[in-house]
Amino acid sequence: MDKPRDAAAKDGHVETSPASTPAKKPHADGSPAESNAAPVRSELMVAETTDDPAIEADDTASDAGYESETASRASTSVCSSVRDYEFENNRRYHRFQEGRYQFPNDEPEQEREDMKHAMVVHLCQGKLHYAPLENPQKMLDIGTGTGIWAIDMGDEYPEAEILGIDLSPIQPQWVPPNVQFMVDDAEAEWVIPPDSLDYVHIRHMTSSIRDWPTLLSRAYQALKPGGWIELQELQFEVRCDDGTVRQGNKVAHFFETMKRALINFDVDLLAMRHNKRNVTDAGFVNVTEIPFKVPIGEWPKDARMKMIGLYNRSMIHDALYGVAVRPFTRGLKWTPEEVEVYLIDVRRELTDSSQHGYTPYTIVTGRKPG
Ligand SMILES: C[S@@+](CC[C@H](N)C(=O)[O-])C[C@H]1O[C@@H](n2cnc3c(N)ncnc32)[C@H](O)[C@@H]1O
Repeated sequence: MDKPRDAAAKDGHVETSPASTPAKKPHADGSPAESNAAPVRSELMVAETTDDPAIEADDTASDAGYESETASRASTSVCSSVRDYEFENNRRYHRFQEGRYQFPNDEPEQEREDMKHAMVVHLCQGKLHYAPLENPQKMLDIGTGTGIWAIDMGDEYPEAEILGIDLSPIQPQWVPPNVQFMVDDAEAEWVIPPDSLDYVHIRHMTSSIRDWPTLLSRAYQALKPGGWIELQELQFEVRCDDGTVRQGNKVAHFFETMKRALINFDVDLLAMRHNKRNVTDAGFVNVTEIPFKVPIGEWPKDARMKMIGLYNRSMIHDALYGVAVRPFTRGLKWTPEEVEVYLIDVRRELTDSSQHGYTPYTIVTGRKPG
């Protein structure tokens, strides 16, 4: 990774070139299912089945008020496309390695990603990572998005260098001096020197990555012996521990539809179910899985979980059209109008606090031996 650039400090942060700069810079199809009173059981719906304690429901809940030292070879051949965007159905998409990632990168999507970050940090009681890092020097954040995690880590570890890579140049210019961003494709061949990183962070990437074993083996090679990898993923299925989620739940149906749509882009939306096994197969040891439950809506009794549920519901609500429109139109051949109409019922279902659904959130950490 590069040394931080000399730049005027502002609030402890330095101005970097936009991540669009290519070189070394700081850088379903599904018809809606019917609604009945039995718990949903489908591939994506594992109802009433976990060993973890159930979240206690608040019986009084209502919904009122709701509405390049480069990382890869791809970056060595970048051209002006890194600065460009594509527009489709009034949403903006990345242009570099066009078509790799099916979700938008515009302002509304960035705001939603930052809200998801706030939700996850709240869920993790303020922790930005679970790997037991000791004096880390070099860290890599794969698919850094708005860079919000990398920036927070830069503040938490001022002695470390953090590089965030992404297909989109959407990261801010004012960042801590030890944080850099770069436009790069994590699935292209890496040129990061072997045994050079202390920590690789991958969060919310299951809607993106096609070949997990290859990505993980590249991360393994790039890590120093003793270095850590961490994967944090929200699992896109509606689970329930008390039978209140109804058959044909539209949010569950939406996730199932999205899974079908993304198959057309060679992406498995539920690939995170194999994270622990994949990390182990890549050669990591001390592999640990930490499960969480993220309620959908404000149905939990506990105030903290209620707040997290509100975040989660808003995050899903705000995502719907943006994340669906390209996969459903290109992948399932729906029209944008069909997507709009389909989402009406999904939005309605999201506000129903009588259904105590949650999405799993799983963190997997592993250490490179040595
Ligand atoms: C759901 S966002 C997650 C952002 C960030 N990891 C977080 O947790 O806040 C996924 C990000 O991965 C990026 N991405 C998708 N495929 C990628 C690839 N092959 N290489 C680099 N970035 C990628 C997208 O551009 C998007 O910003």
